[in-house]
Amino acid sequence: MGRALPFAVLISGRGSNMLALAGAVSDGRIAGRIVAVISDRADAAGLAAAQRLGLVAEVVEPARGGDRAALGARLTAALERHDAGLVVLAGFMRILDAGFVRHWQGRLLNIHPSLLPAHRGLHTHRRVLEAGESRHGCTVHFVTEELDAGPAVIQGRLAVRPGDTEESLSARVQQLEHIIYPRAVGWFATGRLGWKDGHATLDGRPLESPVIEDAP
Ligand code: GRF
Repeated sequence: MGRALPFAVLISGRGSNMLALAGAVSDGRIAGRIVAVISDRADAAGLAAAQRLGLVAEVVEPARGGDRAALGARLTAALERHDAGLVVLAGFMRILDAGFVRHWQGRLLNIHPSLLPAHRGLHTHRRVLEAGESRHGCTVHFVTEELDAGPAVIQGRLAVRPGDTEESLSARVQQLEHIIYPRAVGWFATGRLGWKDGHATLDGRPLESPVIEDAP
């Protein structure tokens, strides 16, 4: 077995995706190790959960006045101190500056609760319901400078049911997130998933469209 990929997880809240990733490391689905869980908020529930697992958990405070570039520089310093080879955004609720994104290009993944390119931004479950759509889901994508617009890697797809609410959709989308995010990070760790010339690659070939995982 090759060297375990050192990766960091950035969170702002509950950290359920971080826990799913930690579980996948523990049971061998990801050939990697979490070198740090970093939050912009000291009160993120996920930080305490990471500590309980014995993971390195750190707060990187946003700069006074909300200077994005300064936060990006602080994050990069922390990530490099931990020798992170991949940065996994898992409910990190701050927009990262272009310098940060360029620095980590091809080594920066995010998960978004919609079938991108549909519904970039916030309140995705509400918007799916309001539009009367029959399908919803989540997307793991490489992060580029345009928000929620980087190359998609894998999507979890589900059918919207009559009577669904934001809460019920959110719960089912999260179940899918916990399947597809470990899978994508696992591919990256073994070198199956990569980045070339602004595109995602899987097994050495450009990924024209994301891999699809349908909810059972
Ligand atoms: C997830 O729904 C993810 O799609 C979005 O933020 C949420 C994070 O949830 N980016 P958790 O903190 O991992 O539970």
